[in-house]
Amino acid sequence: MSIIRIAIDGPSGAGKSTLAQAAAAALGCIYVDTGAIYRTIGLHIWKCGADPANTEAVAAELPRLQVELRYENSRQRMFLNGRDVTEEIRLPEVSQYTSSVSAIPAVRSYLLEMQRELARTHSVVMDGRDIGTVVLPDAEVKIFLTASAQARAHRRMLELERRGTPQPYEEVLREIEERDWRDTHRSAAPLQQAADAVLLDTTTLNFQESLDALLKIVQERGNVHEAI
Ligand code: DC
Repeated sequence: MSIIRIAIDGPSGAGKSTLAQAAAAALGCIYVDTGAIYRTIGLHIWKCGADPANTEAVAAELPRLQVELRYENSRQRMFLNGRDVTEEIRLPEVSQYTSSVSAIPAVRSYLLEMQRELARTHSVVMDGRDIGTVVLPDAEVKIFLTASAQARAHRRMLELERRGTPQPYEEVLREIEERDWRDTHRSAAPLQQAADAVLLDTTTLNFQESLDALLKIVQERGNVHEAI
């Protein structure tokens, strides 16, 4: 049984995590949500009051951090200096801080080896922004998952309602557009489609249709029956 690596990149709110998680379960891989890893650093920077755009201030915090990823019932949980922060990293403030700190090269290199190590030892479905381009450039399957900003804002709004932290559509859309802009315009590992990635646009697809389309790509590209 050899290792298969499935890299899924795309903008926020494209449904990467739900789809990647379902695909990992269907394929018998572990799911690695790299956004959650970056969010753990974003949370720390928010809590310690540092300016998330100040490269030196953020870099100075890194040696104080112990970022750990654990699996409980096949679910990824994030620990910051021994404390479970899995729920806290989803706060809207953390999203904004994370978008800034993830543009800092020192943060990206600090997390690079941790992500690669997971894919060395397990078959993975890994999602993020630079998985196909930087973290796993040799991944067997690369998918660039996207949807229109409006569709993503609508889905995100429903998700926030479900979580009991509702936000108006216009505000959600504005935040998504701001994050898109920052994620694609930063100089360190900007969000971009790898040349050999397959584009999957889920604007008009429901969850099951998106999952079927994703698994079809994996089957076509990954020779998945042999690999797993
Ligand atoms: O996927 P997400 O929304 O949880 O990601 C949170 C932030 O982290 C987002 O602004 C982009 C950043 N990120 C990144 O720069 N590289 C990754 N591989 C994953 C996330």
